Amino acid sequence: MRAAVVTSHRPDDILAALEITDVAERDLSPGWARVHMRAASLNMHDVWTLRGVGQDPAVLPLILGCDGAGVTDDGREVMILPVIADADRGAGDETLDPKRALLSERHDGTFAEVLHVPERCLIDKPAHLSFAEAACVPVAWGTAYRMLRRAGLGPGQSLLVQGATGGVNSAAIALGAAMGARVWATSRTADKRATALDLGASAAFESGEKLPERVDVVVDNVGAATWRHSLRCLKPGGAVVTCGATTGGNVDAELHRIFFQQLSIIGSTGCTRAELVELGRLMEQAELRPLIDREITLSQLPEAITDMADGAIEGKVVITDFSA
Ligand SMILES: NC(=O)c1ccc[n+]([C@@H]2O[C@H](COP(=O)([O-])OP(=O)(O)OC[C@H]3O[C@@H](n4cnc5c(N)ncnc54)[C@H](OP(=O)(O)O)[C@@H]3O)[C@@H](O)[C@H]2O)c1
Repeated sequence: MRAAVVTSHRPDDILAALEITDVAERDLSPGWARVHMRAASLNMHDVWTLRGVGQDPAVLPLILGCDGAGVTDDGREVMILPVIADADRGAGDETLDPKRALLSERHDGTFAEVLHVPERCLIDKPAHLSFAEAACVPVAWGTAYRMLRRAGLGPGQSLLVQGATGGVNSAAIALGAAMGARVWATSRTADKRATALDLGASAAFESGEKLPERVDVVVDNVGAATWRHSLRCLKPGGAVVTCGATTGGNVDAELHRIFFQQLSIIGSTGCTRAELVELGRLMEQAELRPLIDREITLSQLPEAITDMADGAIEGKVVITDFSA
């Protein structure tokens, strides 16, 4: 089968770490299911993997990709929960299992014609979504959904999303609006700020711009470039929720501001199976659809990976043809 394989870690030249090639399908483990992939979307996680962040090189070669949707051997249309974990080890929450792994970290990922996953990772595809749209949901939307839940966002509250058109951020804007919050976003370009309004934000600002008023919750996965601004945008008692640090993770903690303004800093990673099921229902009820930048063939992956690393994508890039 055709697959995109990570062969090494190359922080300086990520495309040299990637090979699009034919690989033999492994034997199916007991309790695991075979999924014929119809679509798989890119995430920043794929760029980190090629750079060697958070992965032991001893596990290579492995198939890249952590987001996807497809059809099981018995014809079930599914999206894939990417977290391989034991909920019992996480006291009922698989994202808290100390041994959890995202697809492509220790197990073959979604950028292949066929994927093997534990049965519990199969979630019915929301009926209103195409396979390409469903392939955008588990990582980007699942992560955004858990972030907003962990921050306790509710109707009538105000939310700022730092960055507008990234996978997680575009989802956070749409979900925040669907949850009844007033959503503002920042972005580096006028085009992306216009897209933020289309996604459900009621106003969009330049990155770092002073806001008309402070907000209850800030979503920040940009990190070093926006963290200082995020802390200053919060009302007393507000919360900033982070799931990533695209521009760097070493920021000034500003402890005086945190205790004096009684701010909360909330970390969040991925989502549980139950949250993904709940999210699918919410997206169906509110008719929410992921923003897709473009659909590509597997052989067009290197160009898309470069665009992702350069921040030149609006929404998600989705592989929908694995044979070419
Ligand atoms: N912990 C988890 O479970 C989890 C899950 C998913 C993602 N993540 C992390 O979250 C981050 C985003 O992932 P993604 O897949 O959504 O990536 P993405 O699609 O590439 O989005 C990147 C976002 O960051 C913003 N950005 C990048 N550089 C910026 C800068 N210098 N100044 C201001 N904004 C900047 C972009 O805003 P513009 O609109 O201005 O381009 C865009 O919204 C990554 O670090 C990823 O590893 C973590």
